Amino acid sequence: MCGIVGYIGDQQAAPILIEGLKKLEYRGYDSAGVAVYDNSQVNVVKAKGRLKILEEKLSNGNNLFGTMGIGHTRWATHGAPSDINSHPHTSASGSIAVVHNGIIENYLKLKEFLISKGYQFVSDTDTEVVAHLTDYYYNGDLIDTIIEVINKVEGSYALGIICKDKPDEIVAVRKDSPLIVGLGENENFIASDIPAILEHTRNIYLLEDKEVVLLRKKDVKIFNLNKEEIKKEVFTVNWDVTAAEKSGYDHFMIKEICEQPKVIRDTINPRIENGSIVLDNIELTKEDIDDISKIYVIACGTASHAGMVGKYLIEKLARIPVEVVVASEFRYGNPIIDERTLVIVISQSGETADTLAALREAKKRGARVLSVVNVVGSSIARESNDVLYTWAGPEIAVASTKAYSTQLTAMYLIALYMAEKKGTISKQEVEGIIEYLKQIPDKVANILENKERIQYFASKHYMDKHVFFIGRGLDYFVAMEGSLKLKEISYIHSEAYAAGELKHGTIALIEDGTLVVALATQEHLFDKMLSNIKEVKARGGMVLAIAQEGNTEIEKEADFVLYIPRVEPLLSSVLTIIPLQLFAYYVSVAKGCDVDKPRNLAKSVTVE
Ligand code: AGP
Repeated sequence: MCGIVGYIGDQQAAPILIEGLKKLEYRGYDSAGVAVYDNSQVNVVKAKGRLKILEEKLSNGNNLFGTMGIGHTRWATHGAPSDINSHPHTSASGSIAVVHNGIIENYLKLKEFLISKGYQFVSDTDTEVVAHLTDYYYNGDLIDTIIEVINKVEGSYALGIICKDKPDEIVAVRKDSPLIVGLGENENFIASDIPAILEHTRNIYLLEDKEVVLLRKKDVKIFNLNKEEIKKEVFTVNWDVTAAEKSGYDHFMIKEICEQPKVIRDTINPRIENGSIVLDNIELTKEDIDDISKIYVIACGTASHAGMVGKYLIEKLARIPVEVVVASEFRYGNPIIDERTLVIVISQSGETADTLAALREAKKRGARVLSVVNVVGSSIARESNDVLYTWAGPEIAVASTKAYSTQLTAMYLIALYMAEKKGTISKQEVEGIIEYLKQIPDKVANILENKERIQYFASKHYMDKHVFFIGRGLDYFVAMEGSLKLKEISYIHSEAYAAGELKHGTIALIEDGTLVVALATQEHLFDKMLSNIKEVKARGGMVLAIAQEGNTEIEKEADFVLYIPRVEPLLSSVLTIIPLQLFAYYVSVAKGCDVDKPRNLAKSVTVE
């Protein structure tokens, strides 16, 4: 996620901005920049790459002097990492500078409007529209102007704005993206997160959505959209710096698990228009889709588990044959590919060596490649014919959670898009599924509100030696991911099995007390799952069941039941994985494992 810092006071702003941005590096970024007012103009220095590159640029004669400014570390969403796409972005005259964290969902419409008014764009970013829109609406009062701007903007944002004409002011506002105000002695701050300002002050305002901040050296005023001043309570931070980097969470993994409602919403919302799915600027026409004879889904690890769900969805909705192959096997498997083959590559990092090599092999054999990637401008993104980004933001914990759930979301979007184009489901059915899809983030949030029950169950099982995950249909593919989560962060041996397959051998391993996690969210397979649970219980196994709310019959068979909010079975996978992520997390914590950096693992496996 991007990082924002703003400063106004008596000290030189640039060093404070840079040091603040360093404290936000954990948020992940690919470029950085600062804008400082030097008593006559707003000076901007920005660069692709790490903060030290920006520092070198600054010390090489670009030193910025001035006591008011804003800074930014960019996690690319729209527009690959580059100097010109880095923030701050400025109005044409350079009098206004803006930093932004989030996604302007209607930026294309706003860009068209501004171009029609004679504005010219220099970057590929969504953020640049905010700089020109601010210029367009500027009436001498920055608060009025920003209220006008945010009434036109749709999406998520944390914004910091400075203007040459208003040297004593920084204006800021947030919606969905984090932003706080730091209250100093004759100096004040804005920041995306507490670590950036903790060395200067522990007194902050926690901002609510659409509260507009007027930051001055001597005071801070906060307004609602009617320009009525709001009185805020001062919150005193008692975290140490390390805790603050995780925004108060104990680990990045639990922070990222809890970010899922937002990032799933961020991944869905920009792709829904007038009751249909749009896949950004991906040109996949009806003719293209009708011409596809086979789809390969290629990925590794967690991403391959998302691919399994994608297979189920595309085959069910679009009726196109799909084969999921792990990248390390695909590249040496002499795959049968021709110009009618579509290859979908899934990767969080966009740099996994096996996946990148498989992508190149597929293209060499004539396939069209659509990739689902989280890191904008990554190698896999750049080498694909088309990219559908997951807007999960940087995933710091080695164990993937929010990237997985947004990959699932992306596969729903792709399957629905293809089905509508092919006509295998009606427009009404598409609209119905879209309505269910839009409810998913709130249902995920509901599960997260009850995570203590999962923590309790994990406290009873963290010493287990073997755990099995079973399911049927979609639940089987989610069981694979639940099993991987547990083993990779708790080092407990675990396996996922098709529930119907257990009796063909593996059930021999079930002994008294062996934990079996049974996923039973697919209504049409519920009775079959009950039978499988009985088979396990008959051998002395201990069963944790995951079921939809209301299916209380399962309590007669299972030892412990975790319910997910009622959901269309086709969409259950994004919900079913949440308790399994939490179970793995709490087991790992109980065992005292290194949750965020488990042994032997790397966040991105860039070697074969
Ligand atoms: C997931 O928890 C693991 N960290 C690992 O399986 C990961 O999903 C796999 O290495 C693929 O990484 P990618 O999505 O960045 O390509």
